[in-house]
This record gives sequence, structure tokens and C-alpha cells, in this order.
Amino acid sequence: MSDDRRVLTNRQGHPIADNQNQRTVGSRGPATLENYQFLEKISHFDRERVPERVVHARGATAFGEFEAYGTVGGEPISKHTRAKLFQEKGKKTEVALRFSTVAGGRDSSEAIRDPRGFAVKFYTEDGNWDLVGNNLGVFFIRDAIKFPDFIHSQKPDPVTFERQVANRVFDFWSQSPEALHMITLVLGPRGIPTSYRHMQGFGVNTYKWVNAAGETKLVKYHWLPRLPVQSWTEADAAVAQGQELGVHTRDLYAAIARGDFPQWELNVQLMDDHDHPELDWDPLDDTKTWPENDFPLLPVGLMTLNRAPENFFVESEQIAFGTGVLVDGLDFSDDKMLVGRTFSYSDTQRHRVGPNYLQLPVNSARAAAHGVNTNQRDGAMAYGVDGHGADPSINYEPSLRAGLREADKPAHQAQGPVISGQLTRERIERTNDYQQPGERYLLSEQWEKDELVANLVGNLKQCDRAIQERMVWHLFLAEDELGQRVGDALGISAGDVKHLQPVPTQGWGPAEQSRLDNLGSNGPRDVAGLVMTHCVPNQRVQLAQDEEPAAV
Ligand code: HEM
Repeated sequence: MSDDRRVLTNRQGHPIADNQNQRTVGSRGPATLENYQFLEKISHFDRERVPERVVHARGATAFGEFEAYGTVGGEPISKHTRAKLFQEKGKKTEVALRFSTVAGGRDSSEAIRDPRGFAVKFYTEDGNWDLVGNNLGVFFIRDAIKFPDFIHSQKPDPVTFERQVANRVFDFWSQSPEALHMITLVLGPRGIPTSYRHMQGFGVNTYKWVNAAGETKLVKYHWLPRLPVQSWTEADAAVAQGQELGVHTRDLYAAIARGDFPQWELNVQLMDDHDHPELDWDPLDDTKTWPENDFPLLPVGLMTLNRAPENFFVESEQIAFGTGVLVDGLDFSDDKMLVGRTFSYSDTQRHRVGPNYLQLPVNSARAAAHGVNTNQRDGAMAYGVDGHGADPSINYEPSLRAGLREADKPAHQAQGPVISGQLTRERIERTNDYQQPGERYLLSEQWEKDELVANLVGNLKQCDRAIQERMVWHLFLAEDELGQRVGDALGISAGDVKHLQPVPTQGWGPAEQSRLDNLGSNGPRDVAGLVMTHCVPNQRVQLAQDEEPAAV
């Protein structure tokens, strides 16, 4: 019988005639050690895993395109950035987007309470641009030096390997009040989106735009889904998780397979490039949002995801994003998180994927008009030789011979404001850790407030009394009602905690002292006219029977 299927081989190209039996001396063994076919197969299997990401291990990637509008705020976008991908209306750029959870391992549940990663790679004609963000718009800490401690508090106990022990998580948070804004989001329903398609995305950190004249603006990025924002309660998520650990990956790939391509519009907020002393928060602080009533959202383009990976490991496990990956016309700000992140991503990828991770097709700057031409050579798993000059022997620069040359210099050499200061270790001055968490609570929908309170109480009940008291103290400083509701459920009043002094790690000024003097009776904050990033409606998709949130 003819069989036109391809013949199985090993990686040396040797045809495999028997894939069922090892080579042995006689049918009962012993096995021979020269059995190349078996050794190649089993030793490759032994190495099938690369280390999983130290954070954001569980994720799913999809591919598609970004289409530029050519304008920002009704003006040509060239006024503020010269980045080529944005310039012409209708210009399309290929993208990859990896969604993820943060704390769990590679096969962990996707219906877990956690921020979601939202990492976009743009394959532009000027090389790659990565925008590595999340679905909540802010972050827990504002200085990168705290990141390893923060993540350790979120990861399993190193002795017992118990997961998400509330006493660890809230121990860290109780001593890091800058986390309060993010806590009001993660512990509420937005901490469990119903799918990757029904959530917002944000760059979170502050970046810069640069125009052709070298003029700079501060910029924040927002991805707004065309689908409504939808979330689950804790009880809904338990139902989803009971049926399937990978609900979000399955949802994403099923939607793409049926041609229901998810879309997000990219919007930006812009600010002049200086420290804005008129604001009572710092524009470089990633625990803050920029109120949209003062800094409106300006649409710049539309992203569509239309392809799932052909192979999950090759295109999702090995994809590598980094905040340092920017193209001409885009730049860093001095945000202390951003600088730390920028070192960390490529560093971990050289370890996780290997020193030549940028030669893998999913990571290579495949759309770069000038190609990828470097003098970087060799190292583990070099897949090929990067683009070189006419004489491939010239792997150095400068040279009079036929090697690579430097690109043309930009018209201006220096850009941005002049910075001066002495070396120091100090937190930023305008920490203002309580205002936006309080405002965020007040502007939440009623079911979001109820869920937030129920989840805070449920977690804090598992914590030491000192941690409970400190958290209630923070919550009262943010908003009376929030402190009152959580405190009532724990049996802790404002009077019980009023004697507590600020924690050593926090910023403190007259505004905080005044709230502490009146703890529990400050009255609601004024949120009239305030528009924060979460102010798009949030629909509950109900899966659980118990419609009412747990009584607190
Ligand atoms: C100093 C603070 C931070 C550090 C040191 C840090 C470090 C890391 C590291 C080491 C990874 C693994 C990367 C890999 O293995 O490929 C990672 C992944 C990620 N981080 Fe961060 N991170 C920080 C803050 C943030 C913030 C503020 C956000 C959101 C705005 C964020 C979003 C992400 C995302 C989305 C991924 C997954 C990327 C992917 O899908 O491959 N990180 N981070």
C-alpha cells in the first residue's frame, strides 16, 4: 500500500524505521549505549522546558496588526512624535500581544485574582517597539528596588509552598502604602476579568514622545477594548476555575478561530515634559493615574488580533518583551520603576531563553527596513550570523574596510529638560498615597465596592492582628466608608488604630496628618467631575448561584 506521508527522521536527518523499540542485545536487553536514535530523542525530551518566567509565567500570545490614525487630538501626530508607525493614516504595523497573569506558575489557573499582563510588540520599520503593561493602569510600588520583595510576598511560602498566603501579602502591603491604589483595583472585580478580550490595557509607566525638532512630551498609553469591560466576582471565578484552568487562553483562541477578532483602540494622555509642581502627585509615579478630565484620552490607532500561534512554545513561551525596546520618536522618562524594569527584562531573557534570544523569529526585528546588522557573534544557540558588511570578516567597528557603519546622526543631539541633583537615596516628594485610592473607591460601582470590601475582609481575617490594624488605618486614611466597612467586619474602629504612627517607609505631610487627626470622620472626598481610568462601566458576568456578595 502506498503511503505518501512524510518519513520520520531524527535531527541528523536519519530515517527512523522503528520508533517503538530501543536497540538491545537480544529482545530482552540489555540496551546498547551507542543507540544514537534513542539518546537524541530522550535527551532532547529531558531539555524540553526553558525556565518559566519568574513572573507572568502563565500567558497566551496572539498576533495581528496596528493601524495608525495619523493624528493625535485633532492635529498631525508629527507635532509630538516622529515615530514612523504613527505618522500616516491607515499605516499598518504587525503586532504580537501576550496576555498573562502575574503570580502563578506556567500551568496555573487563569481565573485567579491577579493583575493581567498586556505586553505588545510592534514590528516596525525602525525595529521593534515593546509596550509592556497591565490591565489596571497603576502598579503596587514606585521604585524598582522593591520589586523582588514585592514578588516574594506574592509567591508561595518558601518553606511550606502554600500559595497566596494572605498574611504574607498583606504584611508587605501594610508596610507599603503606595500599593493601596492598586489594591483597590486588584481586590475588586477588575482583579478577575472574564476574558483577555474584555479588559483594558495600559502602559502604566510614563514614557516620552520626541518630535523631529527634539521637543519632548510625557505620555501615558491606554488600550480601550471594543468589547465591554467584564469581570467576575470571587464566586463566579471559582465556578469558571472548577471547569477549566486555562479559560482565558481557550476563550482568546476560540474567538480568533471563529473570526471574531478582538480589537483595542490605543489612546494617549500627554503632558509637558517637566515635573509639574502644580500637581499634588508626581507624573512619574506609577501608582497614580492622570485624571482624564484634566488630561483627556487622545486616540492614535486601532489594534486587531487575528492569528493564534502556530506553536505555543515557539511563539508564546519564547517571546520576549522589554521596556527598553523603543523606536526613534519614543523615549524613556525618569520614572524609577521604568529604569529598573528596563534592565530586568533583557537580563532575565538572556537567562531564560538564552543569549541569542533576539535571533528567534518571534523576537527578531523582522520588519526593520534596514535589517538587523550587528557585530554580535556566537554564544549558545547562535542560529545564524546577523546582517554584516560586504566583508563578513569585519566583525568590528570602526573600520576603514567593508564592515558596518554608524547610522546618520539625528538633527539634534540633546533633548528634554536639564536635570540636576546630588546622588541620594530618597523617595519622591509627592507620594500622596491615599487620595487616589479613596477617589477610586468612591467612583466604583456599588457591586465593585461590595466585592472589594468582601475580599479585603476575607483576606484580612487570615492575618495577624497587627497587620489587620495597620490595613484598617490605611483604609481609613483613604476613605472613611472603606475603613469603616472593613473595620466593622474585623471588629476594629478608627479609635482603635488612631494612635498608630506612619510606617517608616512612607511619605508623610500635612494632608496625611490632618486626615489622621480626624481618622474616621474626614467626610467623603470630593470626586465631582473627576474621571479616572476605571470609569468605563464594568459588567458582571454571573456564573455563581449566590448573587449577593458574601455578607461582611
Ligand atoms: C521594577 C519593576 C518590575 C520588574 C523588575 C519586572 C520584571 C519582570 C520580569 C523579570 C519579567 C519576566 C520577563 C520574561 O521572562 O520574559 C516580567 C514580565 C512582565 N512584566 Fe514586569 N516587572 C516590573 C514591573 C512591571 C510593571 C509595572 C508592569 C506593568 C505595567 C509589568 C508587566 C509585565 C508583563 C506584562 C510581563 C510579561 C511579559 C510577557 O508576556 O512575556 N511589570 N517583569
